[in-house]
Amino acid sequence: MKILVVGSGGREHALAWKLAQSERIQMVYVAPGNGGTARDIRLVNIELSDPAQLADFVQKENISLTVVGPEVPLAAGIVDLFRGRGLKIFGPTREAAQLESSKDFAKAFMQRHGIPTAKYQSFTDPELAHAYIDQEGAPIVIKADGLAAGKGVVVAMSLGEAHAAVDHMLADNRFGDAGARIVIEEFLAGEEASFIVMCDGKNILPLATSQDHKRLKDQDEGPNTGGMGAYSPAPIVTPAMHARVMREIINPTIAGMAKDGIVFTGFLYAGLMIDSAGNPRTLEFNCRMGDPETQPIMARLKSDLVAVMEHAVNGTLDAVELEWDRRTAVGVVMAAAGYPDDPRKGDVIDGIPAETPECVTFHAGTTQVQGKLQTNGGRVLCVVGLGDSVRMAQKQAYETVDQIHFNGAQFRRDIGWRGLKH
Ligand code: AMP
Ligand code: GLY
Repeated sequence: MKILVVGSGGREHALAWKLAQSERIQMVYVAPGNGGTARDIRLVNIELSDPAQLADFVQKENISLTVVGPEVPLAAGIVDLFRGRGLKIFGPTREAAQLESSKDFAKAFMQRHGIPTAKYQSFTDPELAHAYIDQEGAPIVIKADGLAAGKGVVVAMSLGEAHAAVDHMLADNRFGDAGARIVIEEFLAGEEASFIVMCDGKNILPLATSQDHKRLKDQDEGPNTGGMGAYSPAPIVTPAMHARVMREIINPTIAGMAKDGIVFTGFLYAGLMIDSAGNPRTLEFNCRMGDPETQPIMARLKSDLVAVMEHAVNGTLDAVELEWDRRTAVGVVMAAAGYPDDPRKGDVIDGIPAETPECVTFHAGTTQVQGKLQTNGGRVLCVVGLGDSVRMAQKQAYETVDQIHFNGAQFRRDIGWRGLKH
């Protein structure tokens, strides 16, 4: 059978890589893909991104099912369009994707259904927003309502920063429509974890847990990024915590959507903040897999992902029991010079070793120019090492990172550090 993966990042490379391992796969297309998916002989890049053109391609090539990586096509309604044409696709409808595409929608939803999250208010008027900040004090968190490619959140430690963020988003209209409305919420302290499940409209199938590293520099310093690395499993999510998150957050979210008349299908990613007393709260929802979380998670998945996806689009996820590699996977992102503000493109990449059972390198911002690999985006590669402990997985990943070279490469040396503490 043939499958299509929509997207071009490390997440999509990891999904396509895993799907292609199935014996039943003839071809995995990636649209538009990257330099790594171009090099993998089991994968084929196609230069399309418009949903209607993708649907035409799927019909012409008799592709059995489509998996969507990023949020933008989901929020634009790619799932509605494919289903309208009778095509099988795994992801949320445009309406369901509002859990991610509108922070205001997500917060109102959580409040309505009693799902633990930070206290908040929404604003379109800058004067009212400034007054609310003065009333609440700092630290406080300002979020653009719409999709802002991971750049729409300011965690303001001072009142000055908070007021500036409001001006930036509301008054200067820096995010266009995405920032015409903002959410201002209570600052939550604690440790974050990524809790991702698959949902077929009725059944919920949790994936392995993971933790992202959002800051550019070691010890969580420097600016926020799309993610400098992730590892799985996340020991903070003990079996008891897992049960509690399912009971207090995931199940009520799927049930709440149904109560509101929206059937949720696709990946649901709850970004959690777990406080020092062990209470989990939802920082945000994403309606897709995380990037870079997908890379270590896929490296650990032993089950046939094609079969899992078939169950997901057929509403039979209750028949699936996932099997995971018991080892820890640590994924280290290698980012371009200038990332995150102004990543440089066009640096030649050398030294990526062949995949081994202990280490695999997924591509993100890479492209092939006359057979040579070059940087082509902010996050360039994600090197995933596997080992019997966090330390051993780190050793595997960093041995490979140290063999890879491109000018200006930025990466952290401490991916997985929270896992070492537990
Ligand atoms: P979000 O896109 O909503 O997940 O926000 C991006 C990052 O900002 C999160 O991963 C957290 O590190 C941080 N963040 C978001 N909301 C809060 C909050 N209410 N309190 C503390 N940190 C937050
Ligand atoms: N790793 C965070 C995200 O995918 O949104």
